[in-house]
Amino acid sequence: MKILLLGKNGLLGREITHAFNNKGNDEFFALNHTDLDITDKDALFLMLKDFKPNYVINTAAFTFVDECEAKKEFVMDVNGYANGALAEICNDLNCHLTYFSTDYVFDGTKDGEYTEDDTPSPINVYGHSKLLGEQLIQKNTDNFYIVRTSWLFGMHSRNFVTTMLERAKKNKEIKVVDDQIGKPTYSHDLAGGVFDMIHDKSLESGIYHLVNEEKTSWYHFAKKIFDATNSSDVNLIRISSNNLDRVAPRPLNSSLKNSKLPKLRTHPQALEDYLHQLNII
Ligand SMILES: NC(=O)c1ccc[n+]([C@@H]2O[C@H](COP(=O)([O-])OP(=O)(O)OC[C@H]3O[C@@H](n4cnc5c(N)ncnc54)[C@H](OP(=O)(O)O)[C@@H]3O)[C@@H](O)[C@H]2O)c1
Repeated sequence: MKILLLGKNGLLGREITHAFNNKGNDEFFALNHTDLDITDKDALFLMLKDFKPNYVINTAAFTFVDECEAKKEFVMDVNGYANGALAEICNDLNCHLTYFSTDYVFDGTKDGEYTEDDTPSPINVYGHSKLLGEQLIQKNTDNFYIVRTSWLFGMHSRNFVTTMLERAKKNKEIKVVDDQIGKPTYSHDLAGGVFDMIHDKSLESGIYHLVNEEKTSWYHFAKKIFDATNSSDVNLIRISSNNLDRVAPRPLNSSLKNSKLPKLRTHPQALEDYLHQLNII
């Protein structure tokens, strides 16, 4: 199979590239932002027409949630309309498209976990833009996976875990919100799951939730990080979202339920593995 990944230098792009280069025997190619801007429809078409992939995996996106609020038009273009165009091109060229979406397409008011069939209702620009991408893909092609995931951490990029560990080196008092609930997900496990999806010939097009199991709050996730690294000198203080001056609102409950795919391990198991990979424990 011939596979083309877009967004090669991002957290997830690097991990999926690593997974496909180390497993299976596909012809795998990856492009970064400099190679191809996904908002350039003509360049996208020429690249795909020339390259003729069977599968396109798009990890390229604008992911700075707070910055999105002031750049609505730009963000709707990158995360939304570009994916609509990509889906149209993939459909014309008979190529399958995998797109990544987010727990932030939900408003966070549900009492319980969000299933793949729940109706999205985003509360920030980033969520709106990712939902637009989902909608245009479903409109423009029948041959797709929309993979919703959440709270990514992993090698190759700064993330919540590395931020906590860096802050602990400088500051013994760390404040973390305790009223946002979700599922931290290890990019390594997500990439493995995506590899399996692409190689599962019987898996139908549709929306899938792929996250590590076990929900938590950011505060409790931070606590697990400091407990696992024996950082007993850190004074971790729980705060509420109201005490944080963030530009974009976040859903309070964004726990995704994976009810269609084989389940990934729990996030504490994944975190332990990640900290081992970092040679921290
Ligand atoms: N990180 C999370 O917690 C999370 C949670 C849920 C869903 N997701 C979704 O998962 C996917 C991957 O996220 P990630 O965390 O890996 O993101 P990331 O680390 O921010 O990487 C995104 C990549 O996309 C590239 N990019 C941005 N605009 C582009 C454009 N117009 N054309 C081509 N490339 C462009 C960026 O390149 P430059 O840096 O050079 O611009 C960057 O390398 C995204 O769809 C995201 O919405 C992420």
